[in-house]
Amino acid sequence: MIENKIAKPFLKWAGGKTQLISDIEKALPAEITQTNFTYIEPFVGSGAVLFWILNNFPNLKKAVINDINEDLINTYKIIASSPKELISILNILQNEFHGLEGNEGNKKLYYYQKRELYNSRKEEQIGQAALFIFLNRTCFNGLYRVNRKNEYNVPMGGYKNPTICDKENILAVSNALQKVEILNGDFEQTLNYTSNNSLFYFDPPYKPLSETSSFNSYAKDDFNDHEQIRLRDFCSKLDILNHNWILSNSDVKGKNINDNFFDDLYSGFNIKRVEARRNINANPEKRGILTELLITNQVKNQNYVRAI
Ligand SMILES: C[S@@+](CC[C@H](N)C(=O)[O-])C[C@H]1O[C@@H](n2cnc3c(N)ncnc32)[C@H](O)[C@@H]1O
Repeated sequence: MIENKIAKPFLKWAGGKTQLISDIEKALPAEITQTNFTYIEPFVGSGAVLFWILNNFPNLKKAVINDINEDLINTYKIIASSPKELISILNILQNEFHGLEGNEGNKKLYYYQKRELYNSRKEEQIGQAALFIFLNRTCFNGLYRVNRKNEYNVPMGGYKNPTICDKENILAVSNALQKVEILNGDFEQTLNYTSNNSLFYFDPPYKPLSETSSFNSYAKDDFNDHEQIRLRDFCSKLDILNHNWILSNSDVKGKNINDNFFDDLYSGFNIKRVEARRNINANPEKRGILTELLITNQVKNQNYVRAI
């Protein structure tokens, strides 16, 4: 039964937040979720927290998601509006790709043809959404990376018979998205969609811990320090307007004890350091446990320290 199936992220995405959910749960002020509330996620990516909220909070009145990546948002919109048509195309892609298993050369050829087709942007929106999911499932480590011309440039991954068409989940996601408003653009536009009991969760592209760990190229424009400051200003504005927010980011201080970038930026708010596992790293030795920041303007749980 579709209705009983729990919707879960339909993409692999750098910075997917499944690992952080129990920490986010602890940071949630109960008084928000015990009455009708609006959930807003301005950097939705694969939506790990979104789906958790949709599945677990019956008092959720409405959710609003946003991302600057228009191909990602097109995929959400197509899943919401045309799941069955999307499933038919994904089924074809899956059968064709699995049919090539055992012949690396032909698999590669197929992958790169589909990548070229995707970049030509000649397909209808449903076709583009199907290619988006196909590439995500078959590419190297589920990365989404584009060049300055917005051309997707991730090489093929080494998966054997990857699931390209998860029919049940697409139907469950489509069902869950019926109470979600889906926006494409800059995070600041979400301010227009608040209610008097709104909860924001921000998961922006993380500030890189080093020059080489820069996995924040999800879109053609980089999210640099200036953008991190613009985001903080937005959070301060929400705080003044009495909206609740939780934000995650990398813990640059864990790497360099003298780096107070976020401690300074969010001084006056509540900063907690939590353990998080990173999976997307080309070098397996670097896939270790790191601390990340969870910052909130909410009533503190005693584990939170107010940064000075
Ligand atoms: C760390 S990822 C979010 C990961 C997500 N929480 C998950 O579980 O998969 C950051 C997202 O921010 C988006 N983004 C980058 N700049 C943005 C901007 N100015 N406004 C809105 N979204 C932006 C990227 O396209 C990317 O999907």
